[in-house]
Amino acid sequence: MGSAGRFEGRTAIVTGAASGIGRATALRLASEGASVACFDLADAVHDTAAAITGGGGQALAMTLDVADESAVATAVADAASELGPATVLANVAGVLRFAITHEASMADFDLMMRVNVRGPFVMCRAAIPAMLEAGGGAIVNVASSAGMFGQAYNAGYGASKGGVAMMTRSIAWEYVKHNIRVNAISPGQVDTPMVSTIDFPEAMDWKLMRKAMGVNGKSLAPEEPAALIAFLASDEATAITGAVVPIDHGLTC
Ligand SMILES: NC(=O)c1ccc[n+]([C@@H]2O[C@H](COP(=O)([O-])OP(=O)(O)OC[C@H]3O[C@@H](n4cnc5c(N)ncnc54)[C@H](O)[C@@H]3O)[C@@H](O)[C@H]2O)c1
Repeated sequence: MGSAGRFEGRTAIVTGAASGIGRATALRLASEGASVACFDLADAVHDTAAAITGGGGQALAMTLDVADESAVATAVADAASELGPATVLANVAGVLRFAITHEASMADFDLMMRVNVRGPFVMCRAAIPAMLEAGGGAIVNVASSAGMFGQAYNAGYGASKGGVAMMTRSIAWEYVKHNIRVNAISPGQVDTPMVSTIDFPEAMDWKLMRKAMGVNGKSLAPEEPAALIAFLASDEATAITGAVVPIDHGLTC
């Protein structure tokens, strides 16, 4: 890992760091000098931290549920004592379940609300005190194009990601005087396990899905949203707060 960079001397917490965009974000922030606390439910989060430390960077891994406030409070405190208080938080963990609405599993709906909405709220709640103490910080949430326009079979996920966008704006305005910036990215389709493992309902009408695919059906590499997260978390973006930035090849323009 390179040592010089925009996050030299800073500690970042990245959730969802075991896989996909979260892993790419943890690696990107570390490559720019951050000490990274990698949080995820999955044990593979240890591989991400090992990739960082193996390259000469500083990282630790913790397995936890981002929606569990007591586990999060403990993990944020432990990360602060090992790596220093975090002034960067990337809320990337998320889950996606497609369903025909009138047949949808309520357990899946509740899971999406828990992980995608409650999770970032719990994380912000736990991370903001250290940022207030430090005189500022940057939070980047991950919304989705699915939260910006109507997508078939995706009502629960879309509602959760629309919620992330609104939560981002609300927290940004609340802490604007405290130099804590809060932004979100809104990706279109990204090549990650979340997408490659989607369990589509058998009876769905694929014609309705075309709307979500854009003109050329291009998808993103996880490193592309990770680069945008790093920009928004960096001092190059000091004038940007409360923004929900699309990264979707124009899908939602
Ligand atoms: N892949 C896409 O096309 C796409 C598009 C727009 C937005 N997003 C969003 O980007 C984020 C990252 O998704 P990805 O594509 O990298 O998916 P991914 O499945 O590769 O990674 C998601 C990670 O979140 C973790 N996670 C799930 N529940 C958790 C919990 N309760 N506590 C802690 N960790 C938990 C998973 O273990 C996994 O490592 C998600 O918020 C997703 O909704 C993805």
